Amino acid sequence: MEETSKAVNSRRRTLMESLGFGRMSVPVGLTERLEHVRALDRVVVPVAKTIRRRLPSGSALRDMLHGVPTGHPLHPPLATISLGCWTATAVLDLIDVDPRASRAVLATGIAGAIPAAAAGITDWSMLHLEQQRVGFVHAMVNLAALGLYSGSLMMRLSGRHQAGRALAFAGLGAAGLGGYLGGHLAYRMAAGPTHAEPTTHLVPLGWHDLCRLWDLPDGRPVSRRLGYINLFVLRHGAQVKVLADRCSHLAGPLHQGRLKLENDEACVVCPWHGSTFRLEDGAVVHGPATAPQPAFEVNIRGDGIVQVRPREV
Ligand code: FES
Repeated sequence: MEETSKAVNSRRRTLMESLGFGRMSVPVGLTERLEHVRALDRVVVPVAKTIRRRLPSGSALRDMLHGVPTGHPLHPPLATISLGCWTATAVLDLIDVDPRASRAVLATGIAGAIPAAAAGITDWSMLHLEQQRVGFVHAMVNLAALGLYSGSLMMRLSGRHQAGRALAFAGLGAAGLGGYLGGHLAYRMAAGPTHAEPTTHLVPLGWHDLCRLWDLPDGRPVSRRLGYINLFVLRHGAQVKVLADRCSHLAGPLHQGRLKLENDEACVVCPWHGSTFRLEDGAVVHGPATAPQPAFEVNIRGDGIVQVRPREV
């Protein structure tokens, strides 16, 4: 009997594999395993906690490092500066130009790595645990790259150009691996892009009936479904504010968040990592979110039906 069930399972596995299920490239498979290495938590959890304590929620420095003023995460463009400079260093080393040129480009990459690391660590401290595990290894590999490039610069400054070049090529390998892990975080684990509902694609133009005004509790946010998406809905007397419910940072449920006044404006604070959005228009007041919450215009019909439509930007 057991033999039979083993044979069936094996046949099923072979069929699924032949259909392409369960296949993935070796690097992706290894990185996905990294997401579940709990042994990393002994370092990841306390380090993330310390960073969050040192950069308290709502502080101007933390918002700046997240990229709130620019509306995009700051880490990716800063990291690109270093990666670009270090790639250029390899090219200059290969074509054997004036060593001062490769030194200058290499040093620019080192200088760019410091703010990139500060922004990256700040974002990292606000991720889910699986993302933090991969992010931690990404940071360690990049730290190794930074060390190799710093050593390379010192070698070059002391006249040992060959050793300097060798260290730089080793650094490029480490930086490449770090970049791959960063790509996994961004594209496979969605750390960085907005998670707010893309309302323009999912909600057709025009007014949509949502619910009855008096069915909404007063002063307490609730979630209501509109077609494919969930909405954050807050009634205050006869006024209603509506935003997309999935937080743009990592899809936390905004209707479970806390309401607060920030500069005399009503805001909601995401229950997961504390991103703060203005109720009026969904603008980001504090990160880690950098993308605004899609906001909706509200119309209350004479018979008390609340209608909504995506706010025009
Ligand atoms: S999910 Fe992270 S702040 Fe909302």
